[in-house]
Amino acid sequence: MANDDQTQSPTLENLHTETRSFPPSDEFAAQANATAELYAQAATDGPEFWAEQARRLHWEKPFTEVLDWSDAPVARWFADGTLNACDNAVDRHVREGRGDRVAFHFEGEPGDTRTLTYADMQREVSKAANGLESLGLTKGDRVAIYLPQIPEAVIAMLACARIGAIHSVVFGGFSAESLRQRIDDAEAKLVITADGGNRRGAHLALKPLVDAAIAAGDHHPEPSATVEKVLVVKRTGQDTHWVEGRDTWWHDVVEPASEIHVPVMVEAEHPLFILYTSGTTGTPKGLFHTTGGYLTGVSYTHRVVFDLKPETDVFWCSADVGWITGHSYIVYGPMINGATQVLYEGTPNTPHQGRWWEIIEKYKVSIFYTAPTAIRTFMKWGEAIPAKFDLTSLRVLGSVGEPINPEAWMWYRRVIGGDRCPLVDTWWQTETGSIMISPLPGVTATKPGSAQVALPGVSAAVVDDHGDEVGPGHGGYLALTEPWPSMLRGIWNDRPRYERTYWSRWPHLYFAGDGAKRDADGDIWLLGRVDDVMNISGHRLSTTELEHALVSHPWVAEAAVVGASDETTGQAVVAFVVVRSDAAGADASGHDVSVALREQVAKEIGPLAKPRTILVVSEVPKTRSGKIMRRLLRDVAEHRPVGDVTTLADSSVMDAIREGLDSGK
Ligand code: WTA
Repeated sequence: MANDDQTQSPTLENLHTETRSFPPSDEFAAQANATAELYAQAATDGPEFWAEQARRLHWEKPFTEVLDWSDAPVARWFADGTLNACDNAVDRHVREGRGDRVAFHFEGEPGDTRTLTYADMQREVSKAANGLESLGLTKGDRVAIYLPQIPEAVIAMLACARIGAIHSVVFGGFSAESLRQRIDDAEAKLVITADGGNRRGAHLALKPLVDAAIAAGDHHPEPSATVEKVLVVKRTGQDTHWVEGRDTWWHDVVEPASEIHVPVMVEAEHPLFILYTSGTTGTPKGLFHTTGGYLTGVSYTHRVVFDLKPETDVFWCSADVGWITGHSYIVYGPMINGATQVLYEGTPNTPHQGRWWEIIEKYKVSIFYTAPTAIRTFMKWGEAIPAKFDLTSLRVLGSVGEPINPEAWMWYRRVIGGDRCPLVDTWWQTETGSIMISPLPGVTATKPGSAQVALPGVSAAVVDDHGDEVGPGHGGYLALTEPWPSMLRGIWNDRPRYERTYWSRWPHLYFAGDGAKRDADGDIWLLGRVDDVMNISGHRLSTTELEHALVSHPWVAEAAVVGASDETTGQAVVAFVVVRSDAAGADASGHDVSVALREQVAKEIGPLAKPRTILVVSEVPKTRSGKIMRRLLRDVAEHRPVGDVTTLADSSVMDAIREGLDSGK
């Protein structure tokens, strides 16, 4: 397995020298939701610990079974219980007298605002659920959601859950082609979209991409066979092409619908959503999560990791609902816990670089959850910007998406957290559904750069090639050793791929795809992906998918892509391409090729995948068995001396690449 070509060098090499440690203050510890006893309790109780967490949800029919692992690696949790996700996230709060609490302070990028209480949300999700049913949607149907970060995105997801339909949210930065792939794989009957969204002061159209996705196209000679309707939210008011009979406005369907809707109760193992993520091959994986276990995982972790006090806290997770972080820590976890949240549509620098801090000041945000790439960007902009705003409402900070380097961690803690807020570095994945490894803010003495410990109830290990646990001070692969409630239940329609991807390396261990290391205290440090998955600004991209996108351009004979380390985005896409000798019009020295190929990637995958650098080379280095040696290309991309080339089929290839680049060819 330790195929040398695929194993990335650790991104944080000096970790074991980190000795700084920040214990929680006595005041914080005294009021914290989670205490050290939780670890002991989880260890003693085993799966029953999870049953205790699950009982905090509202079950229509309480479960009597806890874990059924007889069909491993597909788990069944709480399988004989029934419940509804939307009922738990919304109606329950209204029923129990919390209807007046603000669920969302929405802040649009142009400065428009909306305040939605839990009672407002109940009305909105009920109308939307009735609207969906009036379009013929029913339990088990799949709905693709392609919306900007506006309240309707949350409402649409919850309305699907309310009727037992399965949502598949596609991030707005994906192309029509990527959307089509996801629509087809899930056989979605409905697409919910908007005319457009606001991005950096401009209107970014979404509806034309949906039109293109559904129609016949380059890769699809036929129009979508499954999409019957397109429901369109009016957000920007821009002109929109309309297909009569297929397209309907959200306001025409949802506004007149009844405010009364009875949630459809589903079995605990009923799928709640599908979310596509890049794997090591060309096709994205439709990971799916089910209802009871997922909701248990997200609500439990949200409560203990962020120490949420729902009556007084204001929680802000800056992720987009199109990613798992938005699903788990904007929609389901916080809403089940009755949190008051901020939802922001736009970018951090519109109209000025202090926008996020202004929002924290305005809504008195007390718990803030963001990504290292954002922190590094703010560091670059300078600390004078956040210094202009009152950030004293903050009391807990979180980080997610990639390893956070100790300098960024220290900056976040000092400049944003005023040296007083516990900072939790949370490791998890789309697959795990909820946070797996993180300090507990009232318990753990935190270390800059380390996610440290598996949460109570979670069993993580750092193992070697054979699946044996490594000792303190050693590195290896991160594995999860026991099933957990919010684990993925599979890859949509592809059980063999699920088993192969996650469970085939070692018997009974979940392979996460991350390198990790234990320090002398036994704390876990994450070292980045060990497979052909890159992490660009916290977004997962597959090298293979990118290579496919590049070679689909007529100029390209061959392409090899690597993730090279980047100061701001963590990793950046660097592509090495071999241009066809007959490439009509291509200026093989670079500029045209680069422009055309960046556009090609944006069209095939989405603007988020555009390579930072495209290098035209005469050949790509390969092993004798024909595998691209990405390790060597990464050395070139990161301006390091090229490592061991003895396994190359033709060792002169690297010299040619170097010479070509040096002479600017
Ligand atoms: C990486 C995002 C180090 C990791 C929730 C993982 C992290 C992948 C951390 C999952 C962290 C996420 N420290 N690495 N705190 N959080 N990762 O599915 O490589 O978009 O496998 O889920 O992000 O990305 P995904």
